[in-house]
Amino acid sequence: MTALATPLAFRAIDVICKKRDNIELSREEIEGLVSAYTAGEIPDYQVSAWLMAVVLRGMTRAETASLTDAMLRSGEVLDLSSLPARKVDKHSTGGVGDKTSLVIAPLVAAAGVAVPMISGRGLGHTGGTLDKLEAIPGFNVNLPVAQFRSMLETCGCSMIGQTAEIAPADRKLYALRDVTGTVESPYLICASIMSKKLAEGIDALVLDVKTGSGAFMKSEKDAAFLAELMVETGERMGKQMVALITDMDQPLGLMIGNALEVIECVEIMRGGGPGDLRELCLELAGWMLHLGRATKTVAEGRKKSADLISSGAALEKFRQMIELQGGDPGIVDDYRRLPQAQHRLEIKSAQAGYIASMQCEQIGTACVILGGGREKKEDAVDPAVGIVLHKKVGAGVGAGDSIATIHYNSDAKAQRARQLIEQSIEIAATPPATKRPLIHKVIGRSI
Ligand code: URA
Repeated sequence: MTALATPLAFRAIDVICKKRDNIELSREEIEGLVSAYTAGEIPDYQVSAWLMAVVLRGMTRAETASLTDAMLRSGEVLDLSSLPARKVDKHSTGGVGDKTSLVIAPLVAAAGVAVPMISGRGLGHTGGTLDKLEAIPGFNVNLPVAQFRSMLETCGCSMIGQTAEIAPADRKLYALRDVTGTVESPYLICASIMSKKLAEGIDALVLDVKTGSGAFMKSEKDAAFLAELMVETGERMGKQMVALITDMDQPLGLMIGNALEVIECVEIMRGGGPGDLRELCLELAGWMLHLGRATKTVAEGRKKSADLISSGAALEKFRQMIELQGGDPGIVDDYRRLPQAQHRLEIKSAQAGYIASMQCEQIGTACVILGGGREKKEDAVDPAVGIVLHKKVGAGVGAGDSIATIHYNSDAKAQRARQLIEQSIEIAATPPATKRPLIHKVIGRSI
């Protein structure tokens, strides 16, 4: 008598060991792991071990596609085809002071292109859009899908997090990666970003892939590899894709920390703010308007974006979005309505010279230490704390000049952050010989 072939029960330990031993996982094994973890059937420690094995061993294209697909199908895929506007989103791979989403979503919506944006929280040393939005009193990033959809109809944009309905697997994996040193894998980053983005019902996506000392992909080569992986994954799913490789060798703008970053975004929408942040917002929005078919070229998209800032339309849309998501729109006119840290500490230059470089990851870590990000999954974020830079790379400094101000609520944390920031800023007798470009490269086939 021959035994009936019964499918073997899924065992997390087998999948962990296979990945450890560099054996390619099947689609079924990856789906099994993702669905069991999403359902709470396997513990964090087993999934942490598997994630670390992926970081160390990598993934094949087939494994990456299976992981993206399993994470995407862990929840609902939105059908926004009833919305007449073209739907375009932007996502960044993460950086320090990287706050463009708060400007871009209302700006692009003000031009008539819908922006359904599902974002993440702070990850490792980088800040997260959801944590920044939650610095606005009352702002709700946990909207049910029906409300998200109705906001897109009335306001043209909405910014929410992964929910129990949309990409729930990413919500759990993202929080676990944040605190287990398992962020820095192009395959995990690709699956995390693309599962959220493919669930949004978008027509096109602009990716901002960061490179430099504050990025997960430090070298331009690694950033280009990640960009190509994500562009290929999106195109396979029928989306129009472009990736901009942009600089993260120093923080973007001057402010780092959740409430502080909201202020800097409002300043940009008022027509002010730091030049690098404005420039990147205009470039990304220009691409979004072009892919959203609101303009014939990216240059026209940039021009239109600049006009929407000057006319006040972008800021008006931001106010409307805040109000519709339950937040206090009064923060736009009065920054004192945002959380504020109790104390300030100046970091002064010990010598005269020029800012030669910044170890940008350490500056992001200093913000996490202050309480602006999480060191453990359960940690609450302090929205008020952060760092305001007064100088950027290339700037001249005199001995005793203030380079940065720490906004803090705990003396002990401020001292640790101060040490890290002091170590991370290099001052030299001469200015740096070369200036890194803000936009390194554009990658995409369907443009
Ligand atoms: N942003 C995401 O959404 N996921 C990552 O893994 C990294 C950046």
